[in-house]
Amino acid sequence: MKSKTRFLPLTVGSALLIGSVVPALADAEAERLKAIEAYRQQIADGNPSDLLAMEGEELWRKPYGPKNQSLEKCDLGLGPGVVKGAYAKLPRYFPDTGKVQDLESRLLTCMETLQGVDPQTVVKEKWLRGEKLRMAKLVAYIVTQSNGETIKVDMSHPKMKETYELGKKMFFYRAGPFDFSCATCHGVDGQRIRLQELPNLTKHPGAAAGWGSWPAYRVSNSQFWTMQHRIWDCFRQQRTAEPIYASDATIALSVYMAAHANGGVMLTPGIKR
Ligand code: HEC
Repeated sequence: MKSKTRFLPLTVGSALLIGSVVPALADAEAERLKAIEAYRQQIADGNPSDLLAMEGEELWRKPYGPKNQSLEKCDLGLGPGVVKGAYAKLPRYFPDTGKVQDLESRLLTCMETLQGVDPQTVVKEKWLRGEKLRMAKLVAYIVTQSNGETIKVDMSHPKMKETYELGKKMFFYRAGPFDFSCATCHGVDGQRIRLQELPNLTKHPGAAAGWGSWPAYRVSNSQFWTMQHRIWDCFRQQRTAEPIYASDATIALSVYMAAHANGGVMLTPGIKR
């Protein structure tokens, strides 16, 4: 999939770039929301992610990699092999690696230690291909097992606090040709670009809705996107350098958003336009 087509058609230098929708478009928007709502109901009993989640569960149990081991002993924070509810408590500090990890970076650790898989083979892969697709399937399985759980990210460890502060800095850091930060698009209530609503991720309700509904299946392109994929794409929305997959920077942004989402409900995988 060529990335160009997924770029937002932003109008450079226009004051209307970000702001309220002009009234003439309100009807179109209402139509769009209705269509999405209808779609949501249609698939209420069968999220398209279900198939991926099923494949992911198989991959979790299947021996793989140079060590020919499964991931069944992978510790996602609740003990080896515990998947139920684990995603609602991520990211978290892991004493064994001495790092704050999100789901995807933690899975990289498990793949490396248990299966002997070189994390770079995943990091360098293209989205939705090969090892990244494998990762997405595993993610679909794991997050499905936290659907309906309360978001409960433990912020008490000093490393979590440090990571939060880094994430906050990044969230407000302006860069790129338009001098955008994440906060430009996600730091105000009720903001939208063209017809897309943008959650305010600096506060609880928006963060709970935004964080709590990713990873998600995207109806517009029939693709399942992990949170790393979502964040990567928003760096592109920001027109700035691509972040490295599962890098500390991406994890810090996740911690920042997840901390604000705490107490909300995980509705994963989400369904997006
Ligand atoms: C130029 C505006 C813009 C910037 C800057 C931007 N985003 Fe976004 N973001 C969007 C748009 C538009 C969407 C909705 C995309 C879609 O529906 O395809 C979105 C969606 C999201 C979502 C999912 C929200 C939901 O409710 O589904 C998250 C999380 C997010 N962005 C995080 C970030 C982070 C973190 C940054 C900074 C690295 C950032 N964004 C920078 C425009 C932006």
